[in-house]
Amino acid sequence: MSLADLTQASLSRVASAATAEELEAIRVEVLGRKGTLANLSKDFGKLSPEERAAFGKDLNAAKQSLESAFDARKAGFDSAALTARLDAEWLDLTIPPAGQRPGSLHPLTQIQREIEQLFTSLGFAVLDGPEVESEYNNFDALNIPAEHPARDMQDTFWLDGGFCLRTHTSPVQVRGMKLLKPPFRMIAPGRVFRNEEVDASHEHTFYQLEGMMVDRNVSVANLIYFMKTLLSGIFGREVTVRLRPGYFPFVEPGFELDIQCLLCDGAGCPVCKQSGWVELLPCGLVHPNVLRLGGIDPEEWNGFAFGLGMTRLVMMRYGIEDIRQLQGGDLRFLKQF
Ligand code: PHE
Repeated sequence: MSLADLTQASLSRVASAATAEELEAIRVEVLGRKGTLANLSKDFGKLSPEERAAFGKDLNAAKQSLESAFDARKAGFDSAALTARLDAEWLDLTIPPAGQRPGSLHPLTQIQREIEQLFTSLGFAVLDGPEVESEYNNFDALNIPAEHPARDMQDTFWLDGGFCLRTHTSPVQVRGMKLLKPPFRMIAPGRVFRNEEVDASHEHTFYQLEGMMVDRNVSVANLIYFMKTLLSGIFGREVTVRLRPGYFPFVEPGFELDIQCLLCDGAGCPVCKQSGWVELLPCGLVHPNVLRLGGIDPEEWNGFAFGLGMTRLVMMRYGIEDIRQLQGGDLRFLKQF
């Protein structure tokens, strides 16, 4: 068979090889050490120098065209094999793994624990009070007698026998004064209830954290120090605070404590409504009437108290825009924390 015929025949066998194994067999047969091409070159010796040069050139050209045909066909088989393997062995990495998934703490629980840790390190006791509270503890003992207009600001769910769902954690101040002898420091986190029209920023059920310190010569400067320490701890950076007058019958003087907006550093943005400040925490010095009703002599002792809106704080820290998400128990939401 002439070299040209052999090349042609081999190329068409390569083209019609059905499997990689068949292709390899053809390659060995044609291009192998003892293959057809090698056989042809045995005749070199019998040729004249001119013929030899021409034949050598043809032989190389044939070899090259065959090799590239084999390589191309081989690459075709390889990629088909890869595709087949990928089709057979694929994994869906978006399928959740089998078995139980680790849970996580609700963001309110997380922030509550952080604050408790911070305040216990500052010598505060952590107290608990009931959600169903006496009208007396929720209002009267906090200097809000029955006919006081301040009761209107905190309408709630009333129960028989002089009980209500507590509207704030402040009644735990009353319990704390009975339980602890001055000087003392306490906080009281918990759930509170109000008769509210529910919308993105109002809930009938939310969380506060009360704080109270009773000692000798407690000043507004002490109050500011503790509040700054608290807020810097929570937000993980130095915060700037300011006090505005605020009215609560159980403190005198009473304040609204604002922090400089953490998103714009006071420059003004939508979150702080362009004012540079965000209202965060009502507080003040404990009213002498409250101390007296709690069995503490206001001539000897005084103190500060604050009521942190934990729900509000969580919303600020995580940029949560709708308060209802915190109550809903939707795992798609809660899993993020
Ligand atoms: N209890 C008040 C409220 O819920 C907040 C507060 C607490 C104000 C302590 C002053 C001192 O509105």
